Amino acid sequence: MKLSRVAAVGALAAVALYSITLQSSADNASTESHQPPSLDQSLRELAGRNDLRIGTAVDFDALTSDAPYRERIASEFNSITAENVMKWQLVEPTRGQLDFAAADQLVEFAKRNGQKVRGHTLLWHNQLPVWLTDGVAAGTITPAELRGILRQHVIDEVSHFRGQIYQWDVVNEVIDDNANLRDTIWLRNLGPGYIADVFRWARQADPRVKLYLNDYNVEGLNAKSDAYYNLAKDLLRQRVPLDGFGAQGHYGVQFGFHSSAEVRANLKRFEDLGLETSLTEVDVRMLMPTDNPKLQAQAQGYSVLLQACLLSKRCTSFTVWGFTDKYSWVPGFFEGEGAACLLDENLAAKPAYEELRAVLALAARR
Ligand code: XIL
Repeated sequence: MKLSRVAAVGALAAVALYSITLQSSADNASTESHQPPSLDQSLRELAGRNDLRIGTAVDFDALTSDAPYRERIASEFNSITAENVMKWQLVEPTRGQLDFAAADQLVEFAKRNGQKVRGHTLLWHNQLPVWLTDGVAAGTITPAELRGILRQHVIDEVSHFRGQIYQWDVVNEVIDDNANLRDTIWLRNLGPGYIADVFRWARQADPRVKLYLNDYNVEGLNAKSDAYYNLAKDLLRQRVPLDGFGAQGHYGVQFGFHSSAEVRANLKRFEDLGLETSLTEVDVRMLMPTDNPKLQAQAQGYSVLLQACLLSKRCTSFTVWGFTDKYSWVPGFFEGEGAACLLDENLAAKPAYEELRAVLALAARR
């Protein structure tokens, strides 16, 4: 009894000390420090000196079960994104029954640790509830009804998190690899106007959150990013409340990378329209097994994107899609590939992690 109480008090003290430490590092992140940047500092400390939100996608199961994972999120990042738990399939598995429990816990975690939350995502063609996709396929949900369901979903979710999220990925991956509007249940049933509608509904539900377009393969200058540029111009011309352009940043070592100048030029043209920009899901996968040249190349891939963001006037956040290979989505989605994150499966730093710190420290040097 005595022993366990001592242990409990010890644990509490440790928690208290820990949150004080985190709080002070959060404070450092938002105020100008007079110490020179040091390579011992965490990503969030160094990002704070650059007025940048540095984030990670969070695996909710790992957050609740793996303490070292959780502590690392708190110490390294000042922004988090729910990897899955804000997606429609997870918040409304049964029609009409909203379940924000997991997402709320994630938001609470962020608050405790002085972090902001990126919302991901209101409309996508993947991870939709089965009742919805089945209903549309069977014709029991008509196009008119689908529009109403979508409107309700956007309003419910954005209202639920009003004031607690700083950026929402409003529509995700709505342009395909041929640079056309993606053929989805949204386009087929609602026509191209659904994109403007979703932004307007989101704005109604939260007047201040920044509303983003988000997609992959749009980091550099190409037909797909051109299509987004035209879409953004078009939406702004119609006075649609669009605030930001998010490039996911899923890279692969075997494909090579853009130059940071090219990525910067791409971000700049969106910023010149009056938008802010973000890198929202950065990871750099490789064909397995890893070796030193691949790990060095990986560091270069991360570096290009971070440099481009730091060189851009309105690039506000840089988020990695998971920070440890222990929980990365990559091996499950790309056969034979993996090791895409900054830290390995034991949470040990890879060259990419050191590279990001070096880039942040250099950028912060006065
Ligand atoms: C992925 C998650 O990481 C996986 O856990 C899930 O099974 C599928 O979705 N682009 C996106 C993200 O916008 O939502 C995706 O996340 C990765 C690709």
